[in-house]
Amino acid sequence: MAPTDKPQSHGPALGATQFAVDENDLVIGGLAVRDIVAETGTPCFLYDASAMRRAYRDLETALSGFADIYYSVKANPLPAIISLFHEEGAGAEIASVGEYRAAIKAGVAPGKIIFAGPGKRAAELLEVIEGGIGEIHIESAEEIARIEAIGKPVKASIRINPVPDAQAGAMRMGGKATAFGFDEEELENVLPLFRGIGHIDLVGVHIYGGTQILDADMLISQWRHSILLAARMAEMLGKPLETIDLGGGLGIPYFAGETPLDLAAVSAAIPDLKALMQTHPLTANAHVIVEPGRFLAGPGGIYVAEINSVKTSRGTTFVVTDGGMHHHLAASGNLGQIVKRNYPIVAPAMMQADYEETATIVGPLCTPLDTLARNAALPKLKAGDLLAILQSGAYGASASPVGFLSHPAAKEVLVENDAFEVIGR
Ligand SMILES: Cc1ncc(COP(=O)(O)O)c(C=O)c1O
Repeated sequence: MAPTDKPQSHGPALGATQFAVDENDLVIGGLAVRDIVAETGTPCFLYDASAMRRAYRDLETALSGFADIYYSVKANPLPAIISLFHEEGAGAEIASVGEYRAAIKAGVAPGKIIFAGPGKRAAELLEVIEGGIGEIHIESAEEIARIEAIGKPVKASIRINPVPDAQAGAMRMGGKATAFGFDEEELENVLPLFRGIGHIDLVGVHIYGGTQILDADMLISQWRHSILLAARMAEMLGKPLETIDLGGGLGIPYFAGETPLDLAAVSAAIPDLKALMQTHPLTANAHVIVEPGRFLAGPGGIYVAEINSVKTSRGTTFVVTDGGMHHHLAASGNLGQIVKRNYPIVAPAMMQADYEETATIVGPLCTPLDTLARNAALPKLKAGDLLAILQSGAYGASASPVGFLSHPAAKEVLVENDAFEVIGR
């Protein structure tokens, strides 16, 4: 069994995924998808632990000691997934007290957890400060006051919304008007907010410029910008920075024509970035963090649904499955996409079959929004056959409106070394 080199007809990004094909079967974690779901039932998310570990190790190697990796828990908050990255050496980047609890449950030390998010509530701040937290990434004047009111010492960074020329990513969060952090151009007005503050130890800066960045040059130019910004901030503060958090946003290919982020190019740029930090005495010894989510968890996951019925309406073939946007909003194009494009989709028990049909894949919800793929090239399918959406390990189950229409939640299953386990929230 060798990693697949199947052509485009098996889904645009299949060649970029980590899975093997054995005759007709898509294989994950050493097991045929068909055999796993015969026991777990469908719909389900299957997560290949080795593929996720491989993504972590590839990134760690590319970074060559330049930055520590903190897994962004929002990508997939199951404690078993956080724990897997923790075993590899990752810290955790969280955005709520629920994610804090999941990270603690997964065994992450409180000192290796960092907390960002534009609307942190007083009760959340209290719980993480009392339980222990590496850093809080402050995003508003009110947050400063809320933390001060708790009256316990805590380390913090300022979250900065970078100026437009540093922006990148298909779904941009930085560079434009946003609720995330303070605008870079306001930095000199923001730092005085920390004067006379007794409990917050302002040690660093956090910049998150956008998600789904596939262009290594763009990522590196964003990181350079952040290092220079950190140096300016350190000068204004008149002290060295302990932390520079460069954000996440490393992309993965989903759609036809997209290629994976070139980690060799990232790696080649690391000596220059290290040198850039050394040029300024106040950033020379800072601890650098990157906090990817999608890049680590996305490629190792697939979403599997069973076909319920196949019908034709006015010339279009509709394949109705037992899964849909209530489990996988992102694949339906309703999470951050402007133009709906298909995630890579395959028939995991018919990998050798000819792709002789074009069909629209829909779920069981009573809305046309519940469309998983349009005009997808697929083998001839019938009720009882399986479909699998690839690149589904990040922003899947936890980013979907599972309550809508009250269908059951999808099972989530971790597969490793020829064995699988249902992992729950
Ligand atoms: C502050 C912050 N860090 C990290 C991430 C993870 O981003 P990605 O999954 O694109 O790496 C996000 C995503 O929204 C974020 O808002």
